Amino acid sequence: MSTGRLTNKVTIVTGAGTGFGAGIAAKFASEGARVLVWDIDSASASAVASSLPNALGLAFEGDVTKPADWSRALETCVQKWGSVDVLVNNAGIVYPAMSSLDVEEKVVDRLWDVNVKPLYHSAKVLVPYWKERGGGGIVVNISSISAPRPRPNLVWYAASKGAVTATTRGLAAEMAPFGIRYNCIQPVIAETNMLTVIQGGTDTPEGRAALSANIPAGRMARPADVANAACYLASEEASFLTGVCLDVDGGRSLA
Ligand SMILES: NC(=O)c1ccc[n+]([C@@H]2O[C@H](COP(=O)([O-])OP(=O)(O)OC[C@H]3O[C@@H](n4cnc5c(N)ncnc54)[C@H](O)[C@@H]3O)[C@@H](O)[C@H]2O)c1
Repeated sequence: MSTGRLTNKVTIVTGAGTGFGAGIAAKFASEGARVLVWDIDSASASAVASSLPNALGLAFEGDVTKPADWSRALETCVQKWGSVDVLVNNAGIVYPAMSSLDVEEKVVDRLWDVNVKPLYHSAKVLVPYWKERGGGGIVVNISSISAPRPRPNLVWYAASKGAVTATTRGLAAEMAPFGIRYNCIQPVIAETNMLTVIQGGTDTPEGRAALSANIPAGRMARPADVANAACYLASEEASFLTGVCLDVDGGRSLA
């Protein structure tokens, strides 16, 4: 068995078929975690799970908006590995940047369903499980630097991430007496599929330049940047940290 910073920690990573989630799954497995690679797209979940070393990954096809899928994820982990120790709420969606008045109501509803409500669904399933087993449990939520620093044209997305950050801090305070830690990461724009969606479906040098302007470090985020931060927050090194919102933004929030 590998000896890493997350050895034997059974971890659920949502939206792990690509982007940040795939990076988090790879990093966690490299540190010895067992990873439920959850995605709504079963092919990408399977590809990521089978790429993890030492059979540490298990693909899971599910929809984070469905409460029954959260129960099934818990059961799957307990059956295969005997527990769930860590959850990374990473699955999320965005829309093409546009005037806030042009965004349809159904898009705003869907943002809330995918980006925010899974924090509720997961808490309803995992917190009672963790309390019953006598405490412990670690949650890392992937928010966005747009929560504290919203910009024009992605306002409803920023609003959903503001809710993720607020929920993280509220649940951190409420669950700390049970030894359950809630922290979140606030990344800046990154080179994932979302980059193309935000640009309206076409990834162009001009679009990238506009989106990465005002990042003092001079580049976008990468999945490894977020994965390294998530690993730290999930590890014993962060055992006294709860309610933290870690900016992984190359200094964007300072500019
Ligand atoms: N990429 C960025 O610029 C950026 C910046 C800040 C924060 N974030 C956040 O990071 C997280 C990951 O973003 P990404 O860029 O890797 O996105 P991505 O689009 O590359 O990947 C998201 C994954 O989530 C899955 N998914 C979507 N809806 C789902 C559902 N209902 N159930 C299960 N899986 C579902 C998708 O199939 C996909 O594999 C998101 O929460 C996003 O809001 C991204």
